[in-house]
Amino acid sequence: MRHFLQFSDLNAAECAYLFERAALIKKKFKAYEKHHSLVDRTLAMIFEKASTRTRVSFEAGMYQLGGSVVHLTTGDSQLGRAEPIEDSAKVISRMVDLVMIRTYEQSKLERFAANSRVPVINGLTNEFHPCQILADIFTYIEHRGSIRGKTVAWVGDGNNMANTWLQAADLLGFKVHVSTPSGYEIDQSVAGLRRPESYQVFKNPLDACHQADLVTTDVWTSMGFEAENEVRKKAFARWCVDTEMMSAARPDALFMHCLPAHRGEEVSAEVIDGGQSVVWDEAENRLHVQKALMEWLLLGQQTT
Ligand code: CP
Repeated sequence: MRHFLQFSDLNAAECAYLFERAALIKKKFKAYEKHHSLVDRTLAMIFEKASTRTRVSFEAGMYQLGGSVVHLTTGDSQLGRAEPIEDSAKVISRMVDLVMIRTYEQSKLERFAANSRVPVINGLTNEFHPCQILADIFTYIEHRGSIRGKTVAWVGDGNNMANTWLQAADLLGFKVHVSTPSGYEIDQSVAGLRRPESYQVFKNPLDACHQADLVTTDVWTSMGFEAENEVRKKAFARWCVDTEMMSAARPDALFMHCLPAHRGEEVSAEVIDGGQSVVWDEAENRLHVQKALMEWLLLGQQTT
């Protein structure tokens, strides 16, 4: 049994398979062709934080694969009334085939997985957002081909998305240029890199974007850090991806944002709504890569 708790749970060959499978699943979806590989399988989705894309993509995806879903939140389950996570895992995993969790600490997700009889997927933690990066790299491949040898500029918070980009770069052979305000740096030990040369830190975000193939960012204040919002707004003021930053990147550079976005904060409206932005493809691709992921976790590699 395999879990998907962080990007480094995959190897490069497994990533390549998932991207190929997602492309096939997407093609069939666009042609209204049935792809019912998970008939009678049930996914439990546990949300301890808000979501639009993760909820819709996992729920719609499981139904489209012929399965069904159960949706739980902290507010409407015993999770919010201090039932131990280990007990919840033992119970829930006896009743469903697969579990997706969005929660706070990665350690909580890991405790659930350690007590689960079925595969567990990380739907976002404070430390990682691996499903999003699967979708982002799939989107890059669709638009520009292989990401190996390319440069991704990360502008903004050293958060769960940044950590996951580092893990992906380490695994798939590309480089991440990171620029964060002072005090919001990436903690390299969280990502646990085997190739530290796969990332480089820049004080000036413009320098991080220089000759990048992809420029990407995220909100200045991630979920769970709302109390820091006003302080962060001041600290992050120079970390807005604007047309000047996109001009420093390669002429064919793409812009990505995992969404939701705050126009005028981490990205200008001209950039996110402009010709280099692929944010809508990126959001849609959550559906296709996660269908490939759920199928692989439950059935292994498929040939038909
Ligand atoms: N990108 C992302 O995870 O979106 P949601 O928070 O809406 O699920």
